[in-house]
Amino acid sequence: MPDNRAAARAPELITKQMFMLFPTPMFTGMLPDLSVCDRIEKKLRELQRSGKGFPSPGGMILAYMTPDDLQNLPEMKEVVDVIMEESGIILDAYTIKRESHYITNMWANIANPNRRHNFHIHPNCLLSGIVYIKTPKNCGRTIFASPRMNSKNIEPTYVQKNELNADIFSMPPEKGRMMIWPSHVPHAVEQGTADEAEDRIVLAFNVMIRGLIEQTTARLVLR
Ligand SMILES: [Fe+2]
Repeated sequence: MPDNRAAARAPELITKQMFMLFPTPMFTGMLPDLSVCDRIEKKLRELQRSGKGFPSPGGMILAYMTPDDLQNLPEMKEVVDVIMEESGIILDAYTIKRESHYITNMWANIANPNRRHNFHIHPNCLLSGIVYIKTPKNCGRTIFASPRMNSKNIEPTYVQKNELNADIFSMPPEKGRMMIWPSHVPHAVEQGTADEAEDRIVLAFNVMIRGLIEQTTARLVLR
């Protein structure tokens, strides 16, 4: 039997619309003064040398993590001010009622530029973010995955990726670029192909709100 399903076209709807429902925002921009990155790197190197934080296990490729309360260091004030400002604007975009917001944790990774890092989320916060401090050419990208992975139980082959079928997002790492996203979005670091002479340095942070969430059966006091 010949397949003649495409022979005659059925009438289409009129006044058609396509709504993009329940978006996942990614906020990004550049620090206005890139020399902030150099000052931050100097402080991070000092922490690395002093033995504070979490050194990479002996014999493994470099993956040093600083202590996770960097937001309290005077050397971080410039970047903390930008993070507080931008995260306030984002919380306002969501119209989140709150008394205030604050950085719960801030840390940095100084790592081999090609080191990959598994997918993970950041718990116990509303917003998460990074600032690229040092980005050797071709170092690993931070990549973001769709939080709607469950919709991928049937995965056709796509001829071309577009915003309807994409499930991964990434941007080239760039010194001074800040990215902020809702903390439930899974992310990872891809394997890089950089010259290993230089380290990849990324500052990471989490943001939470203070105040009373007044909801019947879901009341929560956040101090
Ligand atoms: Fe992360």
